[in-house]
Amino acid sequence: MTVPWRCCAGQEGIAVILRGNLIWTSPSGGLEVRRRAYLAADGEKVAGVWDALPPEYAGQPVEDWGEAVIIPAFCDLHIHAPQFPNRGVGYGLQLLDWLEGYTFPMEARFGDAGFAEKVWKAFLNRLWAGGTLRFSAFATVHSQATWRLMELAEASGLRGLVGKVNMDRNSPDSLREDTGRSLADTEELVCRAREELKHTGFILTPRFVPSTTERLMDGLGLLGEKYDLPVQSHLAENPSEVAWVRQLHPDVPGYAQVYERHGLLRRGRTIMAHCIYLLPEERALLKEREVTLAHCPASNADLASGIMPLRQYLAEGQRCCVASDVAGGHTAAMNRNAAAAAALSRLRWLDRREESPLTLAEALWLITGGPGSFLGRVGAFEPGYAFDALVIRPVPGDDLTDLSPEERLEQFLYDGDDRSIAARYCAGAPVEKPFSE
Ligand code: GUN
Ligand code: FE
Repeated sequence: MTVPWRCCAGQEGIAVILRGNLIWTSPSGGLEVRRRAYLAADGEKVAGVWDALPPEYAGQPVEDWGEAVIIPAFCDLHIHAPQFPNRGVGYGLQLLDWLEGYTFPMEARFGDAGFAEKVWKAFLNRLWAGGTLRFSAFATVHSQATWRLMELAEASGLRGLVGKVNMDRNSPDSLREDTGRSLADTEELVCRAREELKHTGFILTPRFVPSTTERLMDGLGLLGEKYDLPVQSHLAENPSEVAWVRQLHPDVPGYAQVYERHGLLRRGRTIMAHCIYLLPEERALLKEREVTLAHCPASNADLASGIMPLRQYLAEGQRCCVASDVAGGHTAAMNRNAAAAAALSRLRWLDRREESPLTLAEALWLITGGPGSFLGRVGAFEPGYAFDALVIRPVPGDDLTDLSPEERLEQFLYDGDDRSIAARYCAGAPVEKPFSE
């Protein structure tokens, strides 16, 4: 391949221009493939895609990546940073026992600032390595550790939303918060993030209904209104969890309506993970509230939770994305999570022929433009969208047959890893590995 020109990002008057096999899913759903085309940045945004470089770019340096495939960088809208050390562990258990046995004991360790520092850096390095350059993460109940994750995210060059977890019932003593304190700590972090950080935002993060009292949910709903905040939580992941919510809130028609009652389904600003076991009224409510439903296929298989009816949700016009849910899911690698979503969609199709499996265009959309639309104009090579890109090329020695760019993308989704990602760009600039080991 052609040796790339040195990048001139950040230099006045010089835009990043990439050349290669550009592939993305357009917001209207089609797979766009532009062979050996040019992709140029205008500051943080995409200026355009061209087969021949327009005259105004004459003389500008071009990074020519030869036959490499260039795709939008990945977004993961549901991941638990403190659970990163636990990925792949404890999957003999289902959700509620796994939380008690593995997750809560791990999260309780984040009162230790030294441990938190080590995990946060490893977590951000792993997102970077896998090409996830935008994310929404749960931290823990600990204010200090949450703030440190926000600071490190800001320094990393990635763009993230981070939430302090709120939990004040049905939780171990090591994590259960005083309600008033939980709200005060949350508000303090919201204000501090606004004052001190530019690229890292705060997202309200009630853990899930069983671990948050109505008073806490009410208070968080009010903070959401006061500061116009996004919200993330879990919804209808596991049958025992759903039954527990029914028992805790017998007067409410469904799990989603509990969040709604407390002002936590903020229109267009809410991410709900899993959404496997929803009643028709809940589906209508989520659609009306423009909630983003985060499908976590690896997690749902790892914890034997079930399979989300993703095809039905897409058909009824729900906003959907694929997310990793580490450590409910075993990997933060979004290519593999997209492949897992495609695999589960084919298993559902075996029993329900009306639910067609995911296409390559859809699988790519669900980890780029789908989650990207929650964050703004992100995840597609369209003018005005954020200039976020990954350069994908075969690992030397693994390139054993002639494949089209589309086939190489498909192979990367299933079996690629960070050895194949030759360069990463976020908001118009290259991003290097954030932290040394
Ligand atoms: N429900 C409540 N907390 C959690 C969590 O940490 N992970 C998953 N997968 N589900 C949850
Ligand atoms: Fe989760």
